[in-house]
Amino acid sequence: MKEIEVSAPGKLMLFGEHAVVYGHPCIVTAVDQRINVSVKQTNNNRVEIEAPDVGVVGYTKALSLLGEDIPKGIRFLEIGVRNFFEKFKEQSGLKIVSRSEFSSEFGFGSSSAVTVAVTKALAELFSARLSNQELFNLCYKTILDVQGVGSGFDLAAAIWGGTIWFVAGGKEITSLACEELPLVVGYTGIKADTSALVRQVAVFYKSHTAKAEEIFEKISVIVREARSRLEEKDWQSLGQLMDEDQELLEDLGVSTVELANLITAAKDAGAYGAKLSGAGGGDCMIALVSREAKASAEEEISKSGGRVLNVYANAKGVVVK
Ligand code: MEV
Repeated sequence: MKEIEVSAPGKLMLFGEHAVVYGHPCIVTAVDQRINVSVKQTNNNRVEIEAPDVGVVGYTKALSLLGEDIPKGIRFLEIGVRNFFEKFKEQSGLKIVSRSEFSSEFGFGSSSAVTVAVTKALAELFSARLSNQELFNLCYKTILDVQGVGSGFDLAAAIWGGTIWFVAGGKEITSLACEELPLVVGYTGIKADTSALVRQVAVFYKSHTAKAEEIFEKISVIVREARSRLEEKDWQSLGQLMDEDQELLEDLGVSTVELANLITAAKDAGAYGAKLSGAGGGDCMIALVSREAKASAEEEISKSGGRVLNVYANAKGVVVK
């Protein structure tokens, strides 16, 4: 039987995290660490899933029970299949295998990459025509069904690839001209819980609405400015904007000592600027560095307890192999 293989990239948020959830823009880049999903039809009315990276092996479920009692590691996969079947009025036994080039701990958006990869693979398998925007909308439904919150920026990175200007819910998705992005990425060793952090910010928003709105407004100004500086490759100014964004994320209460240590280490080693990337609470920080400062920034990040991840920005979006 026909087998479809699809890969989708992870992402790094460059500017605008959290504010994007409140309707402001953000800038995200796809990274060259991908999730690969293969899908083929079977004739046994079951969905079988192998996802060894998340500890799911030999999983099998009757089609009639899709969406019930799903192991944590494959919720996006299974709900993605269910939503596809519902939308296109399809039903078929499937064998799905997913493999990731990166750990789901890093905050690279493994959930969104796997959602995009499986939905795209199913569209190919069943010859369903889906534009990028339609693929986004269907995947966004899956994300909201599973985790209830999220702007969908990571889906846009996984679908379009490159570096993107994004407004929540996919209201604006624009590819930005930016072939190179000299980043160093440091992982804190702590897995962040994105939904919990989004909810924490929601609590802050409720109790300190004026303050939160002021922070989001300032972040929004930074993101708009960053778009121009990025396209001009003005790394010095872009670094400065990263520092300013980081300060506002600290005011929002989502940075941590571990993130701050790695950020300071990179800055002391001569980075143009540095900030947390994503929800905060752990995961990764990013630093913008010159070629000359790269090695010392990496060394200082390692010395401060971080793990340097060798990833490149601006990667290709979803690909059918
Ligand atoms: C998490 O990586 C980024 C947040 O803005 C959440 C979201 O946009 O879905 C905190």
